Amino acid sequence: MGVDMASPELRWWDSEVGYEVYIRSFADGNGDGVGDFVGLTEKLDYLAWLGVGIVWVTPFYPSPMRDFGYDVADYVGVDPLFGTLEDFDVCVAEAHRLGLRLIIDLVPNHSSDQHPWFQASQADPDGSMRGYYHWRDPALGGGPPNNWVSHFGGSAWTFHEASEQYYLHLFLSEQPDLNWSNPNLVLEFDRVLEFWLDRDVDGFRIDVAQGLIKNMLMPDNPQLRPITPDMTPRQAFVCFDHRYDLDQKGNTAIYRRWRSIVEPRDGLLLGEVYLRDNNPDKVSRYVATQDGLHRAFYFAPMHTPWEPSAIWSTFRNALDAAPRDLSWAVSSHDDPRAPSRFSPKQPATDNIGQERALAYAVLLFALPGLPFLYQGDELGLVDVEVPIEQLRDPVAVRNQNPGDGRDGSRTPMPWEPGLTGGFTTSTEPWLPVSRSDAETVAAQRDNPRSLLAKHRELLALRRELSDLHGAELEWITGTDHLVISFQRGDCMCALNLADTQTALTLPPGKWRLAYSSKRQAGEMQESSIQLDSPEGVLLVKATS
Ligand code: GLC
Repeated sequence: MGVDMASPELRWWDSEVGYEVYIRSFADGNGDGVGDFVGLTEKLDYLAWLGVGIVWVTPFYPSPMRDFGYDVADYVGVDPLFGTLEDFDVCVAEAHRLGLRLIIDLVPNHSSDQHPWFQASQADPDGSMRGYYHWRDPALGGGPPNNWVSHFGGSAWTFHEASEQYYLHLFLSEQPDLNWSNPNLVLEFDRVLEFWLDRDVDGFRIDVAQGLIKNMLMPDNPQLRPITPDMTPRQAFVCFDHRYDLDQKGNTAIYRRWRSIVEPRDGLLLGEVYLRDNNPDKVSRYVATQDGLHRAFYFAPMHTPWEPSAIWSTFRNALDAAPRDLSWAVSSHDDPRAPSRFSPKQPATDNIGQERALAYAVLLFALPGLPFLYQGDELGLVDVEVPIEQLRDPVAVRNQNPGDGRDGSRTPMPWEPGLTGGFTTSTEPWLPVSRSDAETVAAQRDNPRSLLAKHRELLALRRELSDLHGAELEWITGTDHLVISFQRGDCMCALNLADTQTALTLPPGKWRLAYSSKRQAGEMQESSIQLDSPEGVLLVKATS
């Protein structure tokens, strides 16, 4: 492909910040309590006003919704719950009219058990669709073929009485894993990508991008620790070295193929490379060769506590492994929200978590790579405590383990004060809405000191400061310092991780405070800056 590894050309996503729309919870256009395309389309002007460049929409395909859309029954349609294909087309056209790019969530690791492919695969053991999934005989003494476990609890194998074989599912039993060693399946997905590119999408977020290829001999995964009954499914999952089910070498060949499909249309390939050990060297393999994924989400920043050495090693290691191709999310629909993660008290009784989350966003926005906000991050939204009887996430509901569920970060976007937050006209949103009036868009939109205003200012600056789009990173402080700071061209970023104010000596030159998570921007006379706790800043070198 003739890529210059030293200074790759800038692409459209280099100057943009992404925004994750969890479609069920963003905006409900038809009053049934669930978000949809009509609702999203109406709110696109809000995203343009906020300064977002890329909108990632979570799965909206026809689905039995066992995993709320991540169980796809038709890869080329829209579930009636979310609207029609025409509604989708209108949404894309409106996004483009407003200067936004729209990428969609592709779920290639598994389908729904209601997908016609799986239905045929199950019905006819001798048919051509059998090989679209992983079917195996029981182990010699009976029972599942190997010791693989599902992310969502229990064995990764379900027995099918009629054919006396097991099928593989790394998530729910209603999410059978597709067999990416089957060339016909590979061709099917070429057509899926082309279908959506023809409908003008700007790229794909690839779900479980680390999982597609399996070791077809299916050996047992080495077990690292015993599983105890009190463990959550996610804790049980990391009791194994996932040597044979995840992160297999063949995955990258699939992304090289897809790269050749999206490149002529200038599309973005952004992978969810979710490795439980968060090893950045492994994640970097998906992007380093510059001919596979364009960007890979790196999840360690969402799992790192507010602790200087932990934050330092997270970012030093990641940027050593992949200096410019990672993607950073403040929060997501799978993890606790940043203000909740960073709050010293659970549940939060002060706003320290929110202050830390904004300061952290300054860091993520200034790093090389592609930063993402999750809907509500801009409002400082904390996780909502969902009463047990209203929990919906199968991880919580099926395992009677509310602590491990993801509903708290998936509650509807609070647009206005009120019981349903202006999210829906129904009295029954699918999950309860945050009850804090201060956390609504309406309450913050016209207040220049609100978190919403502070995020908007940060987004505008990220777009304006072109050194943040391509310049190399040079560390200013070392890992023993309580301030993490670096320079990129004529910009510098600093984040105070200490519990107290901390002084930072600035590199030579005259600097202007372009942004602070805590105070007004402005000229600076001094050659050092006294950073508040917590505070994230961006400084720009004065040219004269
Ligand atoms: C990804 C999604 C998550 C989903 C899982 C299975 O991790 O982000 O929400 O449950 O894949 O598709």
